[in-house]
Amino acid sequence: MAHRLFSPLPLGPVELRNRIVSTAHQTTLVHDHQPTDEFVAYHEARARGGVGLIVLEATAVHPSGLLTSHTLGGYLPQIVDGYRRVAAAVQPHGTRLFVQLLHGGREQIAGPPRAPALAPSSVPSPRFHAEPRALSGDEIEELVAGYGRCAELAASAGLDGIEISAAHRYLVEQFLDPELNLREDDWRDGSRFLSAVLDAVRAAAPGLCLGVRLSADSPQARTIASLAESADVDYLSFALGDSSTYLGSVGIVPPPPVEEAAIGPLTFESHLPRIATSRVVEAERAERMLAEGRAEAVGMTRALIADPELPRKVREGRPAQVVRCIGCNACIAHYHAGTALRCAVNPRTGRELRLGPPAAVDRRRIVVVGGGPAGIAAAIEAGCAGHDVVLLEQSGRLGGQIALAGAAPGGRDVARSFLEDAERRLSGADVDVRLGAAGPGDLEADGIVLATGAAPYQRGNWPTAWDVLAGELPDGRSVLVVDWGGDPSGLDAAELLAAAGKRVTIAVASVAVGELVHQYRRNLYLQRLYRAGVQILHHHELDAEGRLRNVFAPELAADVEADDIVLALGRVPSEVDPPPGVPCERAGDCLSPRSLEEAVLEGTLAARAVVA
Ligand SMILES: Cc1cc2nc3c(=O)[nH]c(=O)nc-3n(C[C@H](O)[C@H](O)[C@H](O)COP(=O)(O)O)c2cc1C
Repeated sequence: MAHRLFSPLPLGPVELRNRIVSTAHQTTLVHDHQPTDEFVAYHEARARGGVGLIVLEATAVHPSGLLTSHTLGGYLPQIVDGYRRVAAAVQPHGTRLFVQLLHGGREQIAGPPRAPALAPSSVPSPRFHAEPRALSGDEIEELVAGYGRCAELAASAGLDGIEISAAHRYLVEQFLDPELNLREDDWRDGSRFLSAVLDAVRAAAPGLCLGVRLSADSPQARTIASLAESADVDYLSFALGDSSTYLGSVGIVPPPPVEEAAIGPLTFESHLPRIATSRVVEAERAERMLAEGRAEAVGMTRALIADPELPRKVREGRPAQVVRCIGCNACIAHYHAGTALRCAVNPRTGRELRLGPPAAVDRRRIVVVGGGPAGIAAAIEAGCAGHDVVLLEQSGRLGGQIALAGAAPGGRDVARSFLEDAERRLSGADVDVRLGAAGPGDLEADGIVLATGAAPYQRGNWPTAWDVLAGELPDGRSVLVVDWGGDPSGLDAAELLAAAGKRVTIAVASVAVGELVHQYRRNLYLQRLYRAGVQILHHHELDAEGRLRNVFAPELAADVEADDIVLALGRVPSEVDPPPGVPCERAGDCLSPRSLEEAVLEGTLAARAVVA
C-alpha cells in the first residue's frame, strides 16, 4: 500500500488529502476563454477518482498572453463564474483546486490571425517562429498588475490556490534568461519580474496557497527556486522542458523511450514542499519518489488523463484495474491540433458527459475478430458490460501493429505497457482469448465485431517495414528505406536496420518526417536516427521505374546506392465478410487504417452498438 502517497500534505494555508496531483494541462475544453460543461465534467471525474490537487491549465493573465483561442482568460470578469462552476464540481470531493497563471511571452502557439508576440526583448523563437516586440516598461507594469487582478478573481471564485508558471521558457523565464533579456532598463534584472509578480499575487489573494512552477532542467531553475523561497511561497512544482526549441519541447510532455519518472533525478532540495512531475505512471513509482526524498507530492498528469479513478483504485487495493497511460501523447497531440482533449487508451476522457461506463445488459455472446487495439477495446468493453465474450486472433499474439512496433526502440515501451494493460484488463473482463486459426463454431454469436486491422500497402516485390519489424532483415550491407512520411513504421525499420549494422538511407516523401507521429515522439525519432548515422533524404518518392524523384520538382532524381530497398508506403484495410444473419459492427483499421486512438474508440463503440 502506498502509505506516503495517501498521507495528507500541508501546503501553506491548505492541506491536500493525498500527494497525487493533476498538474496544469490544457484541455481545449474551453470556449470563448471560459470553461465549458465538458471541462467541468472532466475535472469532476478526476476529483471523484480521488486526486488530491487539481491545478487548472495555464490561464492567461492578459489578452496578449493567450496561447491559443482555447486558453482560459484569467483576466476576464466572467471567469469568476467559470471557476465557481469548476470549484462546485471539484471541491466537494475533497480535492483542492488551484489555477496556473501564465503569460507565454514570445511563445505563441495560436494559429492565424496571431496577436503581436511580446517579450522582454526582440529575439525570435525558433519553434513557433514568433518574432516578438520588446515590451515597454509600462506594458510590463500592466502585466504585473494583470497577475494581481487574475489572482483577485481566482480568490473571489473560491479557488484554493494559485500557481505562477516560471517554467518552459515562457515569459517569466524569458526575463531571467540572459539570451532573451537584452534590455537596458531596470527590467534587465530579470528577477525583478518574478518577484514583482509574486508580490502582486500575494497582495491580491493573501489567503490563497501560492506556488511556482519551474523546469528542473532549465539553467534558470535554481534562480527561480531561490526567488520563490525568498518570496516565501508555499510550494515549488518541478516540471521539465523548454517550449521554444524542438528538443526542449519534448521534455514538456516526454514520451517513451524517455525513462519513467524522468523528473526524479532532477529535483533538488528546498525548504518548500515540492511537487515533481514527468513520466510518473504508476503509484508504486510515485511512492518510491516520495520515499527517496525526491519530492513531497507527485504529478501524475497523463496517468490521470488515462484513468481518473487511479487514486481510488490504488487506495482500495485495486491497482491492477488502472487503465495505464502508455505515453503515446495523443493527449498533447490534441492540444497541438486545437481539438478537445482525448486519450488513446481511454475513450471516455473528454467525453465524460457523453460516454458512460459499460452498461449492465442481458448477457449475450459477442465474438470479436481481431486481437489488435480495436478488437481488444471491443472485447474489454463487452466483457465489462457483462457479456460472454470471445476474442479471436489468428496470429500467435495479441496487439496487432502495436505489438509489431514493439520490436523498435520508438515503440518498445508503448507496446509493453499497452500489452500488459490489455492482458490484465481482458482477464479482469473475463474475455475468452483464442489465439491461432478460428475453429468451426467460433463465429456463432449474438453479435460480431470485426476488427481485422490492416496490411502494408505493397508495390512490387520489395519487402516492407513490417517485414523488418517482424525480424526479416534484408541481407545487403546498405538499405534504402522508402518512406511516405506518415506513420512511424519506416522510421522504426530504419532504426532497426541501422542497429543491425547496415548503412541506411531513408528517403522521405513528406515535408517533415513522420507527419502522423506526434511532434515530441518525432523529434526523438530524428535524434536517434541522426545519432545512428542514418542518412535522411527529404522530399523524395519512388517513381514507377523504381527511381527516387523529388516530390516538388519531379524532373529531379536522386541516386542512392543501396543493396536492398524496404518500403513504408502506408497501409490498406484487411477486410473480411461477416457471416450472414448476425448483427455485425466494424472497428479500427479495417475501416481504413488510422491511429491507436481511433482503433480504441471505435472498438469501444462497436461493442456497445452490436448489442444495441
Ligand atoms: C495536454 C497537455 C497540456 C499541458 N498543458 C500544460 C500547461 O498548461 N501548463 C503546464 O505547466 N504544463 C502543461 N502540461 C505539462 C503537464 O503539466 C506535465 O508536466 C506533463 O504532462 C508531464 O507530466 P506527466 O508525465 O505526469 O503527464 C501539459 C501536458 C499535457 C499532456
